[in-house]
Amino acid sequence: MNRPAWLRDAVFYEIYPSSFSDSNGDGIGDVNGIRRKLPYVKALGCNALWLNPCFDSPFKDGGYDVRDYKLVAPRYGTNEDLYALFREAHALGIRVLLDLVPGHTSEEHPWFIQSGQAERNEYSDRYIWTDFWIKGTPDHPYIGGETPRNGTYMLNFFKCQPALNYGWAKVTEAWQTPADAPAAKATRDAMADVMGFWLSQGCDGFRVDMANSLVKADDENKSYTSALWKGLLNEMRAKYPEAAFVAEWGWPKQALCLADFDMDFYLDHPGNGYNRLVRSPDAYLKGNDPVAFVKDYLDRYEVSREAGYISFITGNHDTPRISWYLSEERLKLAYALLFTLPGVPFLYYGDEIGMRYLSTLPTKEGGYTRTGSRTPMQWGTGHNLGFSPGDPQALYLPVDPAADAPTVAEQERDPASLLTAVKAVLALRHRQPDLQADGPLSILHAKAGDPLLVYRRGALTLAVNPSDGPVQTGLSGAPLFQLGTFERGELGPCSFVVL
Ligand code: NOJ
Ligand code: CA
Repeated sequence: MNRPAWLRDAVFYEIYPSSFSDSNGDGIGDVNGIRRKLPYVKALGCNALWLNPCFDSPFKDGGYDVRDYKLVAPRYGTNEDLYALFREAHALGIRVLLDLVPGHTSEEHPWFIQSGQAERNEYSDRYIWTDFWIKGTPDHPYIGGETPRNGTYMLNFFKCQPALNYGWAKVTEAWQTPADAPAAKATRDAMADVMGFWLSQGCDGFRVDMANSLVKADDENKSYTSALWKGLLNEMRAKYPEAAFVAEWGWPKQALCLADFDMDFYLDHPGNGYNRLVRSPDAYLKGNDPVAFVKDYLDRYEVSREAGYISFITGNHDTPRISWYLSEERLKLAYALLFTLPGVPFLYYGDEIGMRYLSTLPTKEGGYTRTGSRTPMQWGTGHNLGFSPGDPQALYLPVDPAADAPTVAEQERDPASLLTAVKAVLALRHRQPDLQADGPLSILHAKAGDPLLVYRRGALTLAVNPSDGPVQTGLSGAPLFQLGTFERGELGPCSFVVL
């Protein structure tokens, strides 16, 4: 496949910078904290990072409200710290993807402040404005009454996130600019400038926020937005052929085949295969049959196979943690499955030890129900569970207060721990090219009413049984790897085997 070769054996680790490791004791994670944990990431078996936005921001949406695309948020450190992170990561064989938020900025971004002035200027068309102070953008949220300009502006997400203008697929109002107008091109070029800036400093690519929604309204098949990405990504690739790009899109047919991203996340959208694997009441990993998951997954896999990679996630900063849905034994199976299917997997920090979703936390920086998945990493049993030397009252978010809160230090010592299982599965994946992103896949057994799933990856046969009882697989041979039990073809409760 015509994608950067390093993706074949890549396993990503997603870090929410505020919550990973605090190096200076102010209670907030930072870039230097991440730097000193790189050996941990490496030992885990991850060889690539995705950092959530670490740019200057008022943090009304966890940094997805960027005020300066080219400046590291002072609370996380300096640009030099981040460049040093790139260098140190590379020395360990770890690539680093930053988070690009191309669809909107913070309302405090200088472009937006200029855009809201009454007099026309270079940034007047950088955002989407109507032409009268009380006229809104039909079918889209909008804000009026905030700026000197005689118009209202369109929002992408929160009130603090005005939508950047990439034009409209179909122009029906005088104030709309077409997708091929100079205004849209100027926004696109500004984003190319941001991407080039970080790539030139050693960043290895981007996770792209809300990648599918740049060109507005009735963009049938997302053809305008896709064309924009295809051009932009290939412009970057011409200079940085090793760079990799993963879309928050959730539809590989568009994201990979049309927009030309390298990877597309399999997100937890209601009813989709990922949901039917992990989260819905009848999810496969809760002990049900795999049919709905397999069908949805194979449909996506088949269309995307030649074009790019599907990226499974264990979870992310927007979803309740996976441990909210599955017991520890089933988490092991989940990771075994997610890390042995084709594509490029993403592990959310803390999921490797089964960190819990703290569902009752009050919202922090626009997190709302997502806040409970963003708590500090649990490194050890001491002060602040090793996250920060600072005052426990001053932490970004409280650490899990449970007496049995899982920690890295304890699980590193325990051969039966979740962390040990994650490391073992990832080590297996790195040893076996057949298990990597490009390796072949065929489903050998997935039947209604039967919890057994058997699939083949090249020379290897893999079987999963997430139910509470044993199942007869009809398979024989000596296991190359197993979780749980496998004897005389019988796969025990909550067990996984590779033959
Ligand atoms: C998706 C991001 O993952 C989420 O955290 C953010 O709030 C929205 N996009 C808006 O940027
Ligand atoms: Ca700090």
